[in-house]
Amino acid sequence: MNEWGFAAEIKSWWDEEFPRHPDWRLTRCEVEQAVEPGGQRSDLVVIGGGVTRLCGEIRLPDHPVSNPWHPDNLLNAINKATHRGSRWAFTSDGTTLLLIDTMRSGPPSVRVVQEIPLVSFTGRSELDSEAFLLRLRDVWVTAIREIAPIVVGIAIPKGMAPDELFVNSLRALLSAPVAAIRDELNRRRIAEPQFAEQLVVWMVDRLLWSHVPDQWEAEILRASRLTAYVLTTRLMFYEALRRSKADLPALSIPVASAHIARTNLKAYFEEARSISGDYETLFSWDQAFDFALVDAGLGSWGRVVEHLASFDLTNIGYDVLGKMFERLIDPNERYRWGQHYTSPDVVDLMLSFAIPDGRGRVLDPAAGGGTFLVRAYVRKRVFNPTESHQQILSELYGLDISPFAASLATVNLAIRHLGFEDNYPQIAAKSFFQVDPAEAFMALPSPQRVSLDEREGRDVAIEPVRAVVCNPPYVRLHELGRDRQDEAKKVLEVNRSVPVPPKLHGLSNYHVYFWLHSAQFLEPDGRLVVIAAGEWLDSDYGAVLQKWLMDHFEIECCIESLAEPWFSEARVGTVVVVARLSESDSIRNANRVRFVLLRRPLRELYGDSASDVEHIRNVDALRDRLMSLVGDFGESKDFDWSTATQDELRGLGTAASEGRE
Ligand SMILES: C[S@@+](CC[C@H](N)C(=O)[O-])C[C@H]1O[C@@H](n2cnc3c(N)ncnc32)[C@H](O)[C@@H]1O
Repeated sequence: MNEWGFAAEIKSWWDEEFPRHPDWRLTRCEVEQAVEPGGQRSDLVVIGGGVTRLCGEIRLPDHPVSNPWHPDNLLNAINKATHRGSRWAFTSDGTTLLLIDTMRSGPPSVRVVQEIPLVSFTGRSELDSEAFLLRLRDVWVTAIREIAPIVVGIAIPKGMAPDELFVNSLRALLSAPVAAIRDELNRRRIAEPQFAEQLVVWMVDRLLWSHVPDQWEAEILRASRLTAYVLTTRLMFYEALRRSKADLPALSIPVASAHIARTNLKAYFEEARSISGDYETLFSWDQAFDFALVDAGLGSWGRVVEHLASFDLTNIGYDVLGKMFERLIDPNERYRWGQHYTSPDVVDLMLSFAIPDGRGRVLDPAAGGGTFLVRAYVRKRVFNPTESHQQILSELYGLDISPFAASLATVNLAIRHLGFEDNYPQIAAKSFFQVDPAEAFMALPSPQRVSLDEREGRDVAIEPVRAVVCNPPYVRLHELGRDRQDEAKKVLEVNRSVPVPPKLHGLSNYHVYFWLHSAQFLEPDGRLVVIAAGEWLDSDYGAVLQKWLMDHFEIECCIESLAEPWFSEARVGTVVVVARLSESDSIRNANRVRFVLLRRPLRELYGDSASDVEHIRNVDALRDRLMSLVGDFGESKDFDWSTATQDELRGLGTAASEGRE
């Protein structure tokens, strides 16, 4: 089935629906077909009272520019609706429908007033299945039931958060440069063996990927996305800086040639370093930028730059970059690297346990877009308002294997105080298992540099930390490449300051290695506060981890929620564990572990707050309530709980799994 056939199906489903809702006063749909460069498009027009009420464009997901967020698609739909005298328009690729209010002012993306998820599908061949068409019918009928009351003026649209608009349109815009980069990298690696070699060295040495020759195509696509995203974060930071340093020139990407575009961009970045006197780590030239700026992609990079300039990054919420990290990444890749975003609500609770008075060094060894580090920054700010930005940064360490994630986390922290000298977050794009306590893991420009040409750096090592807080990747170890597996297993071999089990269960998940390695970075009495899918509490491999925790830590709290998912991917049974390093057998054995099952979302339990200070106070009040739980078990409208000493748990076999029952 093609677009036209698909639109005709929708027309028939909607036409049947109209008589059931006389208050809509909608009479019929019409389908029109248009041929456009790269494919076909069908327009669906809804008529009521003799006039056009809604006018939409439907593409199929395999159309070359199918993304309904793409500005061209939005603009086409707006123009078409305006031409027909309709206030309301929509765009859809069959998987999502965007309702647009053409009367709003501003760029096309800010006129989107509601996003309606439809059904996930990849191409037109799926439309040949009767069963699939029945599913589609349900979602499209549900969609018109949502939209019709709005277009006839008896309901108002839900609206869209500005951050959502920004990220969605950026993602759509990036598909064009990503495709251009992919084609160019593929062309060159086939035509130029030397280039292919250079690419492999970059992927293996810099990105720490393993290269599998018969997976070239997939690797190139992944590399193209990554280079595009890394360049985008730098461009974004440049734009943010431009708002506070008015003499920085506006970015523009010349379309004449990739060589000229690279030379220009280098000059912009040099200028940014020189005017700001800072940000060496963010503006030093990265090989990824050479790959990202290709002749065929220059026009689309220009549009990305325009989009970034239209949005004030310094005004967006702290968690947007965190979300962006995940939202820009393809879902398959996300799954492969366990790249999920943790809700800031639970991050705040974890930090409340980790650094109760806001003091001390904090490490996130799997930092993603930097949510834990940014919230740790805010917590420190609230507790120590006189500490400088620089002092706070010196107490935060982050690592992520993904250069895109590491660059986002870096921007996310640096942006907290633009314009300050020596604004260098201690975040490296590195595998956690390649970093050892107190050994240099990155170099930063030294604060006393005399000139920009003086490249002398200072080594940064992770000093013992008060807390490790993280959401480690949740993937089966054997799904990772051999190098990654070997590197993680080394954690078990060496003589560690906190002893680790000599062997783990064969099916152990990657996150277990993060626990064991994290412990080595703690100062005496330091805390490990980890969020992970709760499967490990009931598994064989988890029993080893539980025993290890009880042998070296006082487990203070295990918290789960019945009321909300804490990872963006709605996983059930996510658990937060708070454990404090303890050398004393007797203290550990007598320690009472609190197992808590929340019945209400954290946001409700915290209550409203008008400022960061009030919010953190509310979070701490919940922490104190949990820590003061006594008695074997109990329940309330907010949570159920049980407690047991580690001695009792040991007697029962495995710790946490018993407590959960
Ligand atoms: C579940 S995400 C957590 C992201 C972020 N901290 C959050 O909670 O929103 C796990 C992160 O671990 C990173 N990662 C995977 N393997 C790693 C390794 N060996 N060393 C450091 N980071 C790694 C992934 O790139 C991903 O960003």
